[in-house]
Amino acid sequence: MSPRRKFVAGNWKMHTTIAEGRELARAIRAQLEGVEGVRIAVIPPFTSVAAVAEVLRSSRIEVGGQDLHWEEKGAFTGEVSGPMLRDAGASLVLVGHSERRQYFGETDESANRKVRAALATGLSPVLCVGETLAERDGGRTLEVVGRQVREGLAGLTPDELGRVCIAYEPVWAIGTGRTAAPEQAQEVHAAVRSILRELGGNVADAIPILYGGSVKPDNAPALLALPDVDGALVGGASLKASSFSAIVRAAI
Ligand code: PGA
Repeated sequence: MSPRRKFVAGNWKMHTTIAEGRELARAIRAQLEGVEGVRIAVIPPFTSVAAVAEVLRSSRIEVGGQDLHWEEKGAFTGEVSGPMLRDAGASLVLVGHSERRQYFGETDESANRKVRAALATGLSPVLCVGETLAERDGGRTLEVVGRQVREGLAGLTPDELGRVCIAYEPVWAIGTGRTAAPEQAQEVHAAVRSILRELGGNVADAIPILYGGSVKPDNAPALLALPDVDGALVGGASLKASSFSAIVRAAI
């Protein structure tokens, strides 16, 4: 038996108005009433975090932010800080999502600063890593993912490492309908786990490594059954309460 409880998080990306976010959160809460043994989170856009947290208050479903700035406050127009996310009701935050890396200049260095800022604020950072298709075809998957993990987590104490989650999301599988084959996912997850062991010793066995990239109710059971896959980071399928709930149930 894995020592890790499964964790399923829904990344709503740039979807949902406040009213839509409330409605989706209400429907997810209703469908997952009484479901135990799995950690669950929804990650709405910033504008809906507080409203969604309100709907989910006193439920077991956590709320997260999709990004954060590493400073607590200051002249950083357009940015949102860890303390602001906490204030809005978030308990976790995505860091280094591939869409941030691809379109908004996120680097391993900025991801590292954000991971540290999240930890300092008491948010659980979910560090996202993953290779592009060209990197996979070039045989560089483990090198790229390994670098993203090492640099993203650089300088953390074992205690801090114990509060981090990793999400492995092959860039070619995000939003494309293509999913990594179970053996491809397991190979990378196992490699990430061994890097975590190097960095944090025994703590590594407790760190959840989620898989992301076109996770759907039909492919979730096979992925979630893999020994080093501790959950799922779900994009598209998390925007419907029924499909998100089905994925959560597949994790039990
Ligand atoms: P997807 O997105 O499930 O729509 O592929 C996953 C993610 O980007 O977190």
